[in-house]
Amino acid sequence: MARLSRGAAWARLLAAPGGGRGVRGLSASAPRATVMAAWVIDSYGPNEVLRFTENAPFPAIRYPNEVIVKVLSAGLNPIDLSMRGGYGAATLRMRRDPLNVNRSGGEFPLILGRDVSGVVMECGLSVTCFRPGDKVWAAVPPWKQGSLAEFVVLSGNEVSLKPGSLSHPEAAAVPYVASTAWSTLVNSAGLNKDNCSKKRVLIIGASGGVGTFAIQMVKAWGGHVTAVCSQNAEGLVRGLGADHVVDYATGAVDIKLKTLDKFDLILDSVGGDTERWAPGLLKPWAGARYITLVTPFLRNTDALGVADGMMQSALTIATKALKHFSKGVHYRWGFFAPSGPALDEVREMVDAGQIRPVVEQQFSFSQVPQAFLKLEKGHARGKVVVSVDGDGIQ
Ligand SMILES: NC(=O)c1ccc[n+]([C@@H]2O[C@H](COP(=O)([O-])OP(=O)(O)OC[C@H]3O[C@@H](n4cnc5c(N)ncnc54)[C@H](OP(=O)(O)O)[C@@H]3O)[C@@H](O)[C@H]2O)c1
Repeated sequence: MARLSRGAAWARLLAAPGGGRGVRGLSASAPRATVMAAWVIDSYGPNEVLRFTENAPFPAIRYPNEVIVKVLSAGLNPIDLSMRGGYGAATLRMRRDPLNVNRSGGEFPLILGRDVSGVVMECGLSVTCFRPGDKVWAAVPPWKQGSLAEFVVLSGNEVSLKPGSLSHPEAAAVPYVASTAWSTLVNSAGLNKDNCSKKRVLIIGASGGVGTFAIQMVKAWGGHVTAVCSQNAEGLVRGLGADHVVDYATGAVDIKLKTLDKFDLILDSVGGDTERWAPGLLKPWAGARYITLVTPFLRNTDALGVADGMMQSALTIATKALKHFSKGVHYRWGFFAPSGPALDEVREMVDAGQIRPVVEQQFSFSQVPQAFLKLEKGHARGKVVVSVDGDGIQ
């Protein structure tokens, strides 16, 4: 059967009875193995909670729009480290089990790992964009079982064909940070390739996973990038296209930045004290935006419960947005959002040579605890990836 483009496939699906929405309880999986190898955690805590097993439950297709992907490489992100310690547990539990059917701890054994590059093994009945054997990449939402396993199940609209120019380990360095940068720069900041050319963008935390991706995206669209990072990352960020680099480690970064022309957009992936001075670097009354990725959203629900935590977050964002709006700038929180269509566009930029993955270190599947220790040490220069299948050179 000829494959449909993503748009044509969705059009056909939406025209179908039921509007293409998943049919609860319909299993489209063929009979197969019931267990797989994975790194799991059975409780939240330090690195010692990571456990290798060959008996993790094999993922099942529960909705017709889902696909099972054989994981060849996985990527780790700071959120995996935080989730290992229990960060976001309340909100993510509610997302996984909205009716609270399972007892507390029903998320265990939990599999971490937010990026996947691999091969489609099986497709649900309504999946028309992919077929078994397709090489794909995806960001695995934090409320789903992760990619530190032989197989992962995802919605077809979270998956995208992998760039042909990247190996699986390189591809596994991209989806989560790309989806976060895309959601922030495109959806929250309104940037696109046609309106970016005269924009001055400040990226705080420029040498990390999100920062290294965001620099390349803004540069591909012709914007001007000022990158804040430590001095020993200057070569990296300049190599990715940053026009101006400011070292935060030698102090008084706010004073140094105040001497520069004002910005149209600030992407802050550091947070904390930066929030105090960074919005003041924006052009006032010109639609300029400060967007921070470091938000108290999940921390609030962890501490106060879902309802009170959400109220607290709503109050905080409203207060801050109003305060900054009165000074002529917009204040926003940025979030990761899974999106296969966004990854389709990123694939084109990667294959056109506009964006390259930045892999800080690659680990084998047996070295997953060491990969987490690497994340724990901080001072990221790009991404930590894990080859799940063999040496990962596919
Ligand atoms: N809200 C969301 O949905 C969402 C999604 C993705 C990420 N995030 C958050 O965004 C943050 C960044 O993510 P990431 O994947 O890019 O992390 P990462 O790869 O660990 O990078 C963090 C970077 O920040 C740099 N840094 C630390 N302190 C700094 C400072 N004062 N000024 C400038 N740079 C500084 C570090 O560089 P040095 O080594 O030089 O210190 C490091 O390169 C994390 O907190 C993550 O949890 C949030």
